[in-house]
This record gives sequence, structure tokens and C-alpha cells, in this order.
Amino acid sequence: MDTTRVAVIGAGVIGLSTAVCISESIPQCSIDVISDKFTPDTTSDVAAGILIPHVYPENPVHLQKQWFQETFDRLFAIANSSEAIDAGIHLISGWQIYRSIPHQERPFWADTVLGFRKMTESELKKFPQHVFGQVFTTVKCEGISYLPWLEKRLRGSGGQVHIRKVEDLWEFYGSYDIVINCSGLGSRELLGDLQLFPVRGQVLKVQAPWVKHFIRDEEGLTYIYPGTFDVTLGGTRQKDDWNLSPDPQNSREILARCQTLEPSLQGAWGIKEKVGLRPSRPGVRLQKEILVQDGHRLPVVHNYGHGSGGFCVHWGTALQAVQLVKELITTLKISTSKAKL
Ligand SMILES: Cc1cc2nc3c(=O)[nH]c(=O)nc-3n(C[C@H](O)[C@H](O)[C@H](O)COP(=O)(O)OP(=O)(O)OC[C@H]3O[C@@H](n4cnc5c(N)ncnc54)[C@H](O)[C@@H]3O)c2cc1C
Ligand SMILES: *[C@@H]1O[C@H](CO)[C@@H](O)[C@H](O)[C@H]1NC(C)=O
Ligand SMILES: *[C@@H]1O[C@H](CO)[C@@H](O)[C@H](O)[C@H]1NC(C)=O
Repeated sequence: MDTTRVAVIGAGVIGLSTAVCISESIPQCSIDVISDKFTPDTTSDVAAGILIPHVYPENPVHLQKQWFQETFDRLFAIANSSEAIDAGIHLISGWQIYRSIPHQERPFWADTVLGFRKMTESELKKFPQHVFGQVFTTVKCEGISYLPWLEKRLRGSGGQVHIRKVEDLWEFYGSYDIVINCSGLGSRELLGDLQLFPVRGQVLKVQAPWVKHFIRDEEGLTYIYPGTFDVTLGGTRQKDDWNLSPDPQNSREILARCQTLEPSLQGAWGIKEKVGLRPSRPGVRLQKEILVQDGHRLPVVHNYGHGSGGFCVHWGTALQAVQLVKELITTLKISTSKAKL
């Protein structure tokens, strides 16, 4: 078996980064991405794409730290190259602020981001309702540019993309050797994974080009993230809410909360509303599995359930998915050579 035929389901940040990572790391693979939606219509296009991790209760912290570090290193290097603007990646500095002292003053990712420190008294003067804060520089990765850039890289290395809804993984049996499941919330239906649930997020994208620092309140319900084309104002976290239409009441509240933190936003214009459903789960599912049906075997790698932090960890989880693909290829080689005997 010379070429390994790989099908990647899903064209959000997880599917496309996994496809690119496989093509960079295992040249013998031919890769097709199959998805019913592509940029600009995925959840990944709604995200602000800022690299401030969320905690996944069911994944070990050392692993989350590793995924974040690998993702940060990769994006920092792109931000530091001539590809930065096409890839939609830039450095951004700002404040994470608290109304009371948080129980954990130093999060696990403090050494990964740049220049992490406590805010000074004079910095805190900007936020009279807050008593504590942290300053750091991180990376922002904008789906609206990053997804097309990943897709271009994939095509450049011979990969293909197909628009299609997948009803059953077994559709791929015979035409592909390995299937990678990066279907986000789609896995609830596809895999019957009922641990997966939507957490609805509504944001506003506004014009306020004078706002250059990010501001994130407490655990990130209210935030202001300046980007290349607009400033993202958030947000909401509505568990089990599948409504993809913008809610005007949500928008009024988001604007009011953000204007309290950054009064100059009263001059913002060009307000657009966006909604996305975060594919949430107690932990990211990163696993290999060999499905068996009527004596046929279908090797699968699962990589989904990145919830509120898919951008923060996507390259790290893609690297781990590549490792699982390599292990499956070894297994396939052994079974092929046994079949020949
Ligand atoms: C408002 C908001 C703000 C956010 N901000 C941030 C942030 O600042 N930083 C951060 O790290 N994360 C953020 N996130 C989270 C981030 O958006 C997600 O973690 C990430 O987009 C998940 O990527 P994904 O590729 O798994 O899912 P998706 O982008 O939803 O992609 C899933 C893909 O699978 C395809 N698919 C599903 N089912 C099928 C099927 N049956 N057949 C074919 N194709 C299928 C879909 O068409 C789609 O292409 C935010 C999310 C929201 C909603
Ligand atoms: C940034 O770019 C310079 C010049 O190409 C290079 O020497 C340096 O190693 C890069 N740093 C990172 C973190 O990528
Ligand atoms: C993902 O894998 C499961 C099996 O665990 C399968 O039922 C489901 O159809 C797969 N998802 C897709 C999109 O093929």
C-alpha cells in the first residue's frame, strides 16, 4: 500500500488544520476534505479566534497545556512571517480584568503567552469596577482569512475538497483507508454522541478602529477583541440553545456591557450580528477507533468537541490526530502484509 487515502469530514478550523497537518507530516497520504459547509458559513467563521484557553474538565491539564503551546508556537511563527496577513494572524495585547480576586491568579497558560503579568494600579484606573487584572500579549487568528488560507495550502499539496453532507461513516468504506471525524457539532447526529451539546454564542462585529487592546471580563462572558477588519464584541453562552438567528435583546445587552468597559465604543458604527454554536463536550474527543460492520473494518480518528476554545488548541490537536493516523497506517500495513501471505 503506497498511498493512504484519507477522508477528513468537516471544514471548520479543526478539519482543515488536521488535513493540512497530515499533508505536511505524512506525504504518502492523499487527502480529501468532505463537508456540508465551508468558510464563511462554519462556526469557526464566527469566532473571534483569540488564543486565551478555556479549560476542558475531562482532558488532562498537561495535555491542554501542550496543545496550547504547540498552537501558540505555530501561530506566533506565522505572525512573524510574510504570510501573516493572508493567514489572518496577528499579535494582540490587552487586559483580562476581575471584579474580585480570582482563586487562581496564574492560569496554566501564563508562561505560553508573552509578557504575562499583573496589572498595575495605574492600569486598573481604566476599570473602576475591577480590583484585579492581568496583562499579556497573545495571538488572534481570524477564521475568515485563516480557513481560506488553510484550504489553499491543502490544495497546494494536492488535497481536494468536496461539498457534501455525510450521513454515515461507512459511505467511505472501500474508497478511503482512514476517515477523520472533525464534524464538530455534526458528530452528535453522525456519531450519536449525546455528550456533545451546543453552547450558543452571539457576537457583534463593529467598526471602532481606534480600539487596539483586547479587554476580557472575568471568565470571558463580556469581551472586546480588535481584529484586522472589525472589533468583535461579545458575548453570550447559552447552553443547549440551537437558535442560529441573532436575538436583538442579546445584541443590546452585549453592546451595553462592552460600552461599560470601553466607553469609547459609543462611537462604533457598522454593527453586524453573528451567531455560532460551540461544539461543546466535557472533553475534546481525540481517539482512534476501528469500526467493524459485516466483517469489514473502517479505521477512524475522532477529533471533535473543541467547544469554546477550538482556535486555542487546533494545531496541537491536529498534531495528535496525525500521530493516531500514523499508528493506524502501521496497523493497516501489518494486516495488508498478513493478507498477502
Ligand atoms: C461566538 C463565538 C466566539 C468564539 N470565540 C473563540 C475564540 O476567541 N477563541 C477560540 O479558540 N475559540 C472560539 N470559539 C470556539 C470555536 O469557534 C470552536 O471551538 C471551533 O470553531 C470548532 O471548530 P470545528 O472545526 O470543530 O467546528 P465547525 O467550525 O463547526 O466545523 C464543523 C464542520 O463539520 C461539517 N459537518 C458537520 N457535520 C457534517 C456532516 N454530517 N457531513 C458533512 N460535514 C459536516 C460542518 O459543515 C463544518 O464544516 C468561539 C465560538 C463562538 C460561537
Ligand atoms: C521571527 O523571524 C525572524 C526573521 O525571519 C527569525 O530569525 C526568528 O527566529 C522568528 N521568530 C519566531 C518566533 O518565529
Ligand atoms: C464519526 O464516527 C462515528 C462512529 O464512532 C459515526 O457513527 C459517525 O457517522 C462519524 N461521523 C461522520 C461525520 O461520519
